[in-house]
Amino acid sequence: MRAVTWHGRDDVRVDTVPDPTITDPTDVVVEITSSGICGSDLHLIEVMAPFMTVGDVMGHEPMGVVREVGPGVTELQVGDRVVVPFNISCGTCWMCSQGLHSQCETTQNREQGYGASLFGYTKLYGQVPGGQAEYLRVPFGNTLPIKVPDGPPDDRFVYLSDVLPTAWQAVQYAAVPKGGSVLVLGLGPIGDMATRVAKHLGAGQVLAADTVPERLARARANGIDVLDSTTQADVVAWARDKTDGRGPDAVIDAVGMEAHGSPGAKLAQKATAIVPDAIMEKVMQVAGIDRMAALNTAIEVVRRGGTISLSGVYGGATDPMPLMTMFDKQIQLRMGQANVWRWVPDILPLLVDEDFLGVESFATHHVPLEQAPEAYETFRRKQDGAVKVLLRP
Ligand SMILES: NC(=O)c1ccc[n+]([C@@H]2O[C@H](COP(=O)([O-])OP(=O)(O)OC[C@H]3O[C@@H](n4cnc5c(N)ncnc54)[C@H](O)[C@@H]3O)[C@@H](O)[C@H]2O)c1
Ligand SMILES: [Zn+2]
Ligand SMILES: [Zn+2]
Repeated sequence: MRAVTWHGRDDVRVDTVPDPTITDPTDVVVEITSSGICGSDLHLIEVMAPFMTVGDVMGHEPMGVVREVGPGVTELQVGDRVVVPFNISCGTCWMCSQGLHSQCETTQNREQGYGASLFGYTKLYGQVPGGQAEYLRVPFGNTLPIKVPDGPPDDRFVYLSDVLPTAWQAVQYAAVPKGGSVLVLGLGPIGDMATRVAKHLGAGQVLAADTVPERLARARANGIDVLDSTTQADVVAWARDKTDGRGPDAVIDAVGMEAHGSPGAKLAQKATAIVPDAIMEKVMQVAGIDRMAALNTAIEVVRRGGTISLSGVYGGATDPMPLMTMFDKQIQLRMGQANVWRWVPDILPLLVDEDFLGVESFATHHVPLEQAPEAYETFRRKQDGAVKVLLRP
C-alpha cells in the first residue's frame, strides 16, 4: 500500500510499504478514507525527530471502512464506517475505566516511561504504524474504533480521532465557570476548535490570540474576540483590559513547543540538526529544549486563582518554570494527551444531525495522499490559508 513515511527533519515521503494484516484475534484492518495532518505531526519533523526511525508510517487522525476483522471481533463487521482514536487504548483496563485512555495500562510504554501507545507517534509511544496510509491495522477491534453512521461526509466525523476530543478536554480541564472568561492561545485547529467548544459549553467571554491572518479571521467570523499578537506584554494588557483588570478565569494553551517567541530554543533545535540522534535523545529528555513562550504568557495572564489548561504538547524534562509566580497566583494547571473515548459520548451527538461545531467546513485543504509532502510543507509554513489539511488516500 501507499503510506506517508518519515525520512528525517522536514522530510516526509509517500512510499510503498507492506499492507497491514490481522496479527491479533481482535484486530481489524481499516481502509482509510480521510486522515488529518496534525500540529503534533509537525513536532515529529522538528524537535521530536530523534525519536523517529526512517520509514515510520505517520498519522493519527484517520477514519475509514472496516475491510477485515479478526476471529475475536464481535462488535464490528466488514463494511462498518469507523473513526480511529489517536490513543491506542484497550477500553477495559483500570485507567481506561477511569476515563484516562491516554494512560491505558494495556498499551503503556513502561520501558520508555511513557503513557498509552499512539498511532504514528515515535518510539516513546510504541512506534505503531500510523493512519496516513491506504490501510491501517487497528487493535482492540471491539472497543477502540468509533462506529459512525453512513451518510454524512467524512468531515463530519473525522475530527473525533483527535481535534474534537482534544479541544473538548482542553475546555473541560480549563474549568471555565458558567458565563466566565477563557483565553485561547493559538488558533491552529486545536485552538480554533477549543473556542467553538468553549462557546458551546457556555463560556461567557471567549478571547483568543494568534498572528496568522486567516486563523484570526476564522475565529472572528465565529464571534470570538481576537488579538493579532502573541507578544506576552500585548496579550496580558489586552486580556486584562477585557476582564476588569483581573485576567481571564481560564487560559488554554493550544500552542505547545512550536511556539514562536522563545529564542533560546531555536538554538537547541538547530543543535538537533547537527548532533547525532543518540546524544540528542538524551539531551531532549534531560535538558529539555522547550519553547515555553505560550505557557509563560498563560501563567502571567491568567487571573489569580484561575486555571491553565495545556493541550499544546511540551517535551523535555527540566525546563525552568516560573514556579514562584505559579504558587503565588494559586494557579491550577491541568494537561495531557486527550483521553479520546472519555469524551466521545458527549461529542458524537453534536455531529450526527446538525453540525453544531461547524466541522463540515473546518478543513481548508483536501489533498490526495500522494501530495502529502507538499501538504505538510504548506501546513507547517501556514501558507495558502492552511489551517486543517485532510489527506484522502
Ligand atoms: N493534548 C493533545 O492530545 C493534543 C492533540 C492534538 C494536538 N496537540 C497539540 O496542540 C498544539 C496545537 O496543535 P494545532 O494542530 O492546532 O497546531 P498548529 O501548529 O497549527 O497551531 C499552533 C498555533 O499557535 C500559534 N502560536 C505560536 N506561538 C504562539 C504564542 N506564543 N501565542 C499564541 N499563539 C501562538 C501559531 O501561529 C499557530 O497558529 C500542538 O502542540 C499539538 O501538538 C495536543
Ligand atoms: Zn493530532
Ligand atoms: Zn486500557
